[in-house]
Amino acid sequence: MKVIVIGGTGHIGTYLVPKLVEAGHDVVCISRRQAKPYINHETWKSIEHVTIDRTKSEENGDFASQIASLNGDIIIDLICFTPGSAQALVEALSDRVQHFLHCGTMWVHGHSVQVPTTEDLKRNPFGSYGINKANIEAYLHSFHQECGFPVTILHPGHITGPGWLPINPVGNLNPEIFIRLAQGEEINLPNLGMETVHHVHADDVAQAFIKAIENRQDSIGESFHVVSEQALTLRGYAAEMARWFGQEPKLKFLPWKEWQKNVSRRDKELTWDHIAHSPCGSISKARTLLNYQPKYSSLQAVQEAIVHYFEREGIKIYR
Ligand SMILES: NC(=O)c1ccc[n+]([C@@H]2O[C@H](COP(=O)([O-])OP(=O)(O)OC[C@H]3O[C@@H](n4cnc5c(N)ncnc54)[C@H](OP(=O)(O)O)[C@@H]3O)[C@@H](O)[C@H]2O)c1
Repeated sequence: MKVIVIGGTGHIGTYLVPKLVEAGHDVVCISRRQAKPYINHETWKSIEHVTIDRTKSEENGDFASQIASLNGDIIIDLICFTPGSAQALVEALSDRVQHFLHCGTMWVHGHSVQVPTTEDLKRNPFGSYGINKANIEAYLHSFHQECGFPVTILHPGHITGPGWLPINPVGNLNPEIFIRLAQGEEINLPNLGMETVHHVHADDVAQAFIKAIENRQDSIGESFHVVSEQALTLRGYAAEMARWFGQEPKLKFLPWKEWQKNVSRRDKELTWDHIAHSPCGSISKARTLLNYQPKYSSLQAVQEAIVHYFEREGIKIYR
């Protein structure tokens, strides 16, 4: 089948595009041709690249028609962030595609009520990113119900893997935390360290997209979480990383008001976003309907990314 991947050279596309080619699909990758896949793979030579800047093309009003004119059987939209953007695209594709897959986020849940959170729980999003993604999800489901549009929505957790930094044990992207843990130094955790993060390796996100396509009779009209088997508490995550580096964990706990005084604005904002959401998602629906079987636990996914990061940065303290 002809598969169009919108935004196919980033975290997810690096793993997804080679898997699509290996599954026998003809792949067309849409991007601005600025980003390069993180990992070289033979299969990249056999795909077609089409250069489109989605933002500019949407401003011109021709993005949806450009995608429709490519005559894809399957469309995978990895970079849609507003309901208007989703609506313009799927209306142009209605009756023209066999399967449309949208990349969502665990942020659609907002504050969890019951954990592990399941896909059927009422959405309670906060923050413009989560609210927009939840509105896109609601719109796509209603479009499916109204006219049978063949949509599947996949909600990844914190995507990680070689080539980019994982969300760290204090809930932000500052690599210094991993270095301190590796050196056996003390780190400050917000509150009791009992808030959660839920990672997923990009290879497992790619697996979920492939399995959603392979099991389209069960995936169409559905949303699925795409996370590792279990979320991590911040304190558990910090302690396990310290031990993995061969160190005894030295953890200090500070109330949020104290903790946030000692960090940069960016770190503070990111940590707040992550601990306020504290995702903890169930994968039982994806397991049952798609046979999704994550290869990586949260810690394995993070550790693979950190080995790669330390090597790239020439940090010698690793284990
Ligand atoms: N990162 C996470 O932890 C996380 C967690 C949950 C959900 N998600 C979801 O994952 C999706 C993002 O996937 P990703 O992490 O693989 O993305 P990514 O690594 O940021 O890659 C973005 C891709 O889109 C292309 N792109 C960016 N802006 C573009 C534009 N204006 N026009 C055309 N192409 C453009 C990039 O290539 P060029 O730069 O060359 O154009 C690249 O191929 C989003 O839907 C996000 O909500 C991410």
